[in-house]
Amino acid sequence: MTYHQATYDEPLLSEIHSDNRYKVPEADENIINLIPEELRTDNVNLPVIAEYDVVRHFTRLSQMNYGVDLGIYPLGSCTMKFNPKFADRIASMENFSETHPLVGDDSIQGSLRVMYELQVYLSELSDMDAVTLQPLAGAHGEYTGILIIRKYHESKGELEKRREIIIPDSAHGTNPASAAMAGFDVVEIPSSPDGTVDLDALKAALSDRTAAFMITNPNTLGLFEKRITEIAEIVHKSGALLYYDGANFNAIMGITSPGLMGFDVVHFNLHKTFATPHGGGGPGSGPVGVKKFLKEFLPIPVVEKSPDGKYFLNFDLRNTIGKVSPYYGAFSTILRAWAYITYHGSDGLTENTVRAVLNTNYLVSRLGNDFKIPFGKLKKHELVLTTENTGKRALDLAKYLIDLGIHAPTVYFPLNVHEDMMIEPTETVSKRDLDQFADALISASRQDEESLKHLPVNLSVGRIDEVKAARQLKLHW
Ligand SMILES: Cc1ncc(COP(=O)(O)O)c(C=O)c1O
Repeated sequence: MTYHQATYDEPLLSEIHSDNRYKVPEADENIINLIPEELRTDNVNLPVIAEYDVVRHFTRLSQMNYGVDLGIYPLGSCTMKFNPKFADRIASMENFSETHPLVGDDSIQGSLRVMYELQVYLSELSDMDAVTLQPLAGAHGEYTGILIIRKYHESKGELEKRREIIIPDSAHGTNPASAAMAGFDVVEIPSSPDGTVDLDALKAALSDRTAAFMITNPNTLGLFEKRITEIAEIVHKSGALLYYDGANFNAIMGITSPGLMGFDVVHFNLHKTFATPHGGGGPGSGPVGVKKFLKEFLPIPVVEKSPDGKYFLNFDLRNTIGKVSPYYGAFSTILRAWAYITYHGSDGLTENTVRAVLNTNYLVSRLGNDFKIPFGKLKKHELVLTTENTGKRALDLAKYLIDLGIHAPTVYFPLNVHEDMMIEPTETVSKRDLDQFADALISASRQDEESLKHLPVNLSVGRIDEVKAARQLKLHW
């Protein structure tokens, strides 16, 4: 397979000067007079670039990049699925996209219906009793969920005592960050030798100081916590709540649910599980679902339906944690999730889960002879392997893949496996693409170590100094 990414010496937009500049129409005196004099100015710094130059600029930049529309994008934990185009079309329909967020409920019954139905769908899929669509990302959902837990303990007069949140060492970094931002102390517990929660460590950490135990299931190693109902029981017995990080929901949707497992609070990553183009900073949406006893703490407003069938925004929740985002959440992502769920139906969603898990296990079988795959060979939606046994660095093998035009998996996460790659193929890849990926990774492991160090050479950007890139940020030009 050969691949050569387009390379342009592309200037910044501010450096492009078009001959055919945008012409500002003459202003209408009547309109000018509506603007207070002190707010008027001649110096508005309007763009001076022709449409064709702007479009060509961004098209050239896009050709120096890689995206889910080009092929497999197996970033473990990130669930980079192909995003079906019908969802984009629905999200850009004018009736939705041109709606002002401050118009009255009567004028936006369609939009409210979409939000209400999505709340219902997410409740049903997760076996939770109520859902807020407000949080704007997975991490924001975690933060909102922890604030709800905080308010719950406060309402019982226990907040002063319950200052700790327990989190396993395999957790995503946002979990401890969200817990700390909500004012809790983070207690990390080690995983057991089989990669799942160490029950003895959990029991030792639990006390009347514990506010919650926060986990994802399946965990970041792609392993299902089989003793989850036992975990729920011991957590609840200590008076703490159980929080579900739903970023891995793609692995269980339609098969089981956090509600059935005994969780009290759940966040969803709509942009992952239900296909919104994401990455590079957005957009996202992290709705939170709760059991009935926590409903009064949800952020306001929630969308409700009156007995006469009218949808309305309810700002009147007794013990609400307040507002967590402007208006009603990331509406375009909400729309895409609603469209995706409506299109697939429950059978289609279950089928997607099955395919995501099957694709992962197919890769396990293809890669298992060449790479060590710790913690057993049966995975859910993602697998973690180590390149240690090949004598090559995970980073170097990743660069080899990139050089072939194949997006590399996540590397060096989770932290409890050395020289690891975390591979999440998702359900949106063909067997042909899976084979091509496996062949390329095996071939990478057999390359001479020195030659790997110079890769990539077929991309618009070669090997970068990653430490410098992370430490010396250049945030603007
Ligand atoms: C397991 C897990 N939890 C939480 C998050 C946070 O989600 P977001 O990136 O939307 O804030 C991620 C994101 O990658 C994740 O993989």
